[in-house]
Amino acid sequence: MSLTAAASGFVVFLLSVQVVQGWNEWRVTYTSTKICVIKGSTVDIRCTYRYPSWENGRYTNVKERFWFTKMNGNDFVDLRTDPEYSGRVQYISDNNNCHLRITDLRKSDSAEYKFRFITNQPGGEYSGSPGVTLSVTDLRVQFIKWRELKCHSICDPPYSSYVWYKNGQKIQSVTYKSLFSDNFGYADSYSCAVKEHEDFPSPPVCVHGQTCNRVTYTDRSICASKGSSVDISSTYNSYTFNVESKFWFSPERSHQWQSPSQPEDLSKYSQYAGRVQVVERLRGRSTLRITDLRESDSAQYRFKFTAGSFEWNSILPGTTLTVTALQVQVTRIKVHQSYTEAELKCHSSCSPVGRLSYVWFNNGKEITWPRTSSYKAWFSHTDIISCALKGHQNHPSPSVSAPRFASVSVSPSGEIVEGSSVTLTCSSDANPAANYTWYKRNGNQYLQPPSKEQLVFRSIQSSDSGEYYCTAENELGRRTSQYISINVKYAPKTPSISVSPSGEIVEGSPVTLNCSSDANPAATYTWYKENQTVIQGPKGISHFPSIRLEDRGIYYCKSENQYGQINSTAVNIDVEYGPKLPSMSVSPSGEIVEGSSVNLTCSSDANPAANYTWYKEDEDSPKASGQIFIITDFRPEHSGNYYCEAQNRRGRHNSTVHEIVMSRSMKSVAAGSITAIFLAIILLCAFLLIRRKRSLKQSTEPRKRPDNRAQLNMNPVYDNCSAVAQTKPAEEDDDISYASVSFSDNKEDPLYSNIRPAQANRQKHEEEEEDEDSVEYTTVNFNNSSASPQLKHREAVEDLSSLYSAITKNPRP
Ligand SMILES: *[C@@H]1O[C@H](CO)[C@@H](O)[C@H](O)[C@H]1NC(C)=O
Ligand SMILES: *[C@@H]1O[C@H](CO)[C@@H](O)[C@H](O)[C@H]1NC(C)=O
Ligand SMILES: *[C@@H]1O[C@H](CO)[C@@H](O)[C@H](O)[C@H]1NC(C)=O
Ligand SMILES: *[C@@H]1O[C@H](CO)[C@@H](O)[C@H](O)[C@H]1NC(C)=O
Ligand SMILES: *[C@@H]1O[C@H](CO)[C@@H](O)[C@H](O)[C@H]1NC(C)=O
Ligand SMILES: *[C@@H]1O[C@H](CO)[C@@H](O)[C@H](O)[C@H]1NC(C)=O
Ligand SMILES: *[C@@H]1O[C@H](CO)[C@@H](O)[C@H](O)[C@H]1NC(C)=O
Repeated sequence: MSLTAAASGFVVFLLSVQVVQGWNEWRVTYTSTKICVIKGSTVDIRCTYRYPSWENGRYTNVKERFWFTKMNGNDFVDLRTDPEYSGRVQYISDNNNCHLRITDLRKSDSAEYKFRFITNQPGGEYSGSPGVTLSVTDLRVQFIKWRELKCHSICDPPYSSYVWYKNGQKIQSVTYKSLFSDNFGYADSYSCAVKEHEDFPSPPVCVHGQTCNRVTYTDRSICASKGSSVDISSTYNSYTFNVESKFWFSPERSHQWQSPSQPEDLSKYSQYAGRVQVVERLRGRSTLRITDLRESDSAQYRFKFTAGSFEWNSILPGTTLTVTALQVQVTRIKVHQSYTEAELKCHSSCSPVGRLSYVWFNNGKEITWPRTSSYKAWFSHTDIISCALKGHQNHPSPSVSAPRFASVSVSPSGEIVEGSSVTLTCSSDANPAANYTWYKRNGNQYLQPPSKEQLVFRSIQSSDSGEYYCTAENELGRRTSQYISINVKYAPKTPSISVSPSGEIVEGSPVTLNCSSDANPAATYTWYKENQTVIQGPKGISHFPSIRLEDRGIYYCKSENQYGQINSTAVNIDVEYGPKLPSMSVSPSGEIVEGSSVNLTCSSDANPAANYTWYKEDEDSPKASGQIFIITDFRPEHSGNYYCEAQNRRGRHNSTVHEIVMSRSMKSVAAGSITAIFLAIILLCAFLLIRRKRSLKQSTEPRKRPDNRAQLNMNPVYDNCSAVAQTKPAEEDDDISYASVSFSDNKEDPLYSNIRPAQANRQKHEEEEEDEDSVEYTTVNFNNSSASPQLKHREAVEDLSSLYSAITKNPRP
């Protein structure tokens, strides 16, 4: 039992040694070691690989992996860099799978293919060896012996299943071996294919001689550039030498018709109208020429002929045409200061089909090398690269270049008005297409969003004015555009106005009004006073060298350009000036009656309003202040020359002198009454003296008396007599502009002694009423304002009214 296990383990080892290589954990495992494929077809070579994930204190990372067949000195030549394989190899790898696909196989591709990977470990490079031996073979029909043909390939072991064709028609049979026997006719041609590779049959052969019925195509596939012309050729032969009809057709197109089995002449299709031509310069060699190729012309083309009852109606593949629009692609790039290192690829939809040779151009001139689809070089800004298929040089690809220019355009052109929509477009000739970045001059930042061909202002603002530029950048380089100036026009903004000097404006001083507002184009200004134009112009300045009173008023300005107008707020210009000559009026006019009231009124034009001070000539101190000076109870001494002074902070001015005269008649009356009063007082004093003496004798008990009365008795008459002019109570003086003046001479003026104000003594009267002897004579009631005394008091006074009538003050006239 253990022996069996050991034996089977050995067998497994023997089998696996074929496909597993490696030591430790480094290994590459190929799924097969020998592959044989038919020329023109595609092969997939697969493997897996592994390596220690941790070694030398670090994780292992795979840096590079590729396939190779040969070495260049000590270097392994990556198949992708080998021009022989250009456009035909693909690495389809993921994780630890390695997968190489080679298309359009050539016989020269026969080689041993090995996978190699390079890691970050020291010496961590590994090639899976031995590799996979690939054999690429032709198929050929070989004549073995009478009635026996062989489908020959170099494959060992040979393919197991084949398909045979007679005159292009599949021989209806199951799978055939490579030993095929039949009753061969001299007229028939034979070809074979490997099953499941029927697209790659052998060329048809005659069993005997070269004159059997057959069609042989010169090319299995042709790649042509869009716009160019192509020749598709075949040689044909009819065994009977009697070809009656022949034409080219496309099986794909024929399917569009009702009867696929009945292909139609290509020239009958509208798609090809005027573009196809069949030429036969040599007998038995037909060439289909299609001009002005379109990509839709990509198809398979076959030739068909009929000769007598024979019809060549082969199912074997004809010539496959691929029409391609070439394109230069940038596959690798390294940008340096003044040049760019890049690898370009001439991409065509033909690749990898067909054996293509390429031509590269710089600035329209053919470069002698390379001939492959890849072109690796240093490129400068001035290089303009394109490629073409060899033989189709007149139909090159669009060229690639770094942007040679970048320019900015503005839409709409013309004036840009605030609020409108504006689009800036950056354009360049870059190919591959550039990406774009926008900048505003003096703005450090690029503008958002970046990398857009267009910069759109949905509603442009005045702040968007400025100079803009863009850069266009592709893989091959970068260009900066010129500046473009964006000047956003807008109606004036609300004007700001200023008055200089600020503060109070004094008559005669220079004054400047300044109106300014932001506008594009610059505004013109109009200054208005109330509704009248003061000045109009581009400056917005209204200057008064010496401002006058009549310049006072409400001013505002209007700012205007072709996009609109707007008025400023109003400003009040107030001109201050000192008082003009005050005018003074006296009411009543003319001579003043003694005791009457006189109003002196002063008025002066002034700004701000003046205050007033009253003077009497030859008196230093002012008499009063206020616009109206009221002299109540006009007295002779009030006569004189009055004037007023008007004053404000800008100056002062005295009025002319106004003489106020007391009427003469009233003066003599007054003089007479003064004499009478004087006499009356003497009489009164004498009477009082006599009476006092009498009463002292009659009375036994002395009477208690108030102090003042006692004093009165002891003092001389003059001392006790006082005169007080009626004073207007303060609470009644509610009008500030009227002056209230009190002429109180008190005891200094002997003329008025003994006269006392009634109100001040009223209280005393009441106390003294009981003393009938003394009260009545002490006081003279001098009440102008008819403040009604109490009844008792009046009765008491009545007794003496006749006696004192001479000194009772006359009421006002
Ligand atoms: C613009 O293109 C350059 C070059 O191809 C590239 O380096 C850059 O990242 C791109 N910028 C943007 C925003 O796509
Ligand atoms: C008027 O005002 C503007 C804005 O304040 C100012 O630029 C200009 O100098 C002023 N002009 C004068 C004459 O003061
Ligand atoms: C302008 O002012 C004058 C004088 O105050 C007045 O008569 C006139 O109607 C005003 N005009 C307008 C348009 O307000
Ligand atoms: C500005 O004032 C002028 C003069 O009074 C008047 O004609 C105009 O209509 C006003 N403009 C605006 C925008 O109010
Ligand atoms: C004097 O002014 C006062 C207060 O305005 C007024 O009541 C009085 O009638 C005036 N007197 C004369 C004589 O104009
Ligand atoms: C009158 O106005 C002047 C200037 O404003 C001031 O100096 C003065 O005190 C005022 N006089 C009176 C009596 O108000
Ligand atoms: C007006 O008169 C007063 C008093 O005489 C005097 O002090 C003052 O200077 C005078 N004012 C003017 C402007 O003459």
